Formats: sequence, structure tokens, C-alpha cells
Amino acid sequence: GGGGGGGGGVKKKLSLKLSNAVRPLVVVHFIRSQRARNFYIVGGITSSMITMDDIIREGNPTLREVAKEVPFPLSEADIQLGKDMMEFLENSQDPVKAEELNLRGGVGLAAPQLDISKRITAVLVPSSDPENPEPEFKDVLYNPKILSHSVQEACLGEGEGCLSVDREVPGYVVRHARITISYYDMQGKKQKVRLKNYAAIVVQHEIDHLNGVMFYDHINEKNPFSLKGGILVID
Ligand code: CO
Repeated sequence: GGGGGGGGGVKKKLSLKLSNAVRPLVVVHFIRSQRARNFYIVGGITSSMITMDDIIREGNPTLREVAKEVPFPLSEADIQLGKDMMEFLENSQDPVKAEELNLRGGVGLAAPQLDISKRITAVLVPSSDPENPEPEFKDVLYNPKILSHSVQEACLGEGEGCLSVDREVPGYVVRHARITISYYDMQGKKQKVRLKNYAAIVVQHEIDHLNGVMFYDHINEKNPFSLKGGILVID
């Protein structure tokens, strides 16, 4: 999960959020939150507010596993997990709550990052249009699949970051510029969505987590900022 670079022009707001996401909060980050996980019961299902303490970091083997498909109909627990994951993203993008809870800003969170090896990810890509506050893409994706993708490739000009990576890893992460995905939503309804540019990159980052892939696996070690021709660089 996490964000990445991006910014400039219309995406000014996004840029601030995302550079914040990429930058490790060295001071804040290592002061473990003293607050206990806030457990409460919703209809018999244990739910809890997700904080940074619940997110496992690189080195934990779960992040390298291929996560298991979620069975249908969705269990109450898997539905609640999706809700908790989305709540985390909402809190992380709310300046007041993020500060209060010591959350790094995130645009995506995958279940393996919570040490749960299931094919579930929450994505909340905020609007890049100040005239329209509707998020560019917001949903919890169960068993997402990339059905097709553009030949055109793209990467974020500022590279990517991840809530499970407490350091900056510079370099271009080249991905598909456009993807068509299918997934099941929280109601168990099959969805088919076409995404482009930033939203497409975020979803590819999250689906990678379900396959045990980290963003820096895509970075050219010798030449992190070398790009072959024709790749769209998104600021
Ligand atoms: Co990530």
C-alpha cells in the first residue's frame, strides 16, 4: 500500500499528500503509538481501527507470499476487514486524524500488509480536480485481476513509496499506463473498471502486494532513473 510521487499542476493537492507518503517520518515513525488497538464489536465481528502498528514492514515474509483468493459469499470478517482498511486510508488522508494517529498518508492498503495473506486491497485515490471532490477511484477490491492493459507504459516522476517500507527507494517504477481490472466489491458484486495513469499505477502497486511483489523489485538497480523511450512520466 502506500503512495508514490506525483504532483505539480492540477495534482498539487495530491502531490503534497504523496510526497508526505514517500518521505519516511523518521521522528514520528519510530515512536510506537502508546494507544492500544481500539477493539469494538460490530454485529459479533471483531473490528479494530488500523494504525501504523498493524502494518508489517519489509523483511516480514508475508509480504513475499502469493496471497489466497477470498471465498464467496464474503464472510462478515472479510467484509469488516475491507471496511477497516478503507477507514485507515480515509484517516490517513485526513490531516487532523493522520496527525492524531501518526498515520502516513496512503492511497492503497493490501491485506498482506496487515499480515493477512488474502487477495483484498483498499484503494482511495483522491480527486485531482479541485472542482470535483469525488475521489478518482475508491473501492475495496476482492480478488482483483488485470484483464488487459495498454502497451503504453508509465511511471511516477517522483517514484513510489509504500506503507511497509520505512525508507525512500529512489527510481522509476515502470508499469502499464492503463489497465482494465475486474474485482468483487464488498457487496459481492463483480465490477469491471478501466483505470489510467495515477489510479492505474496505484492499483498495480496494490495487486503486486497480493503477489508478493514490492515496488522496488521493478526499479533498475544499476540505473534507477534510466527510461527507454515512449514511457509516460506522470507528475
Ligand atoms: Co505498498
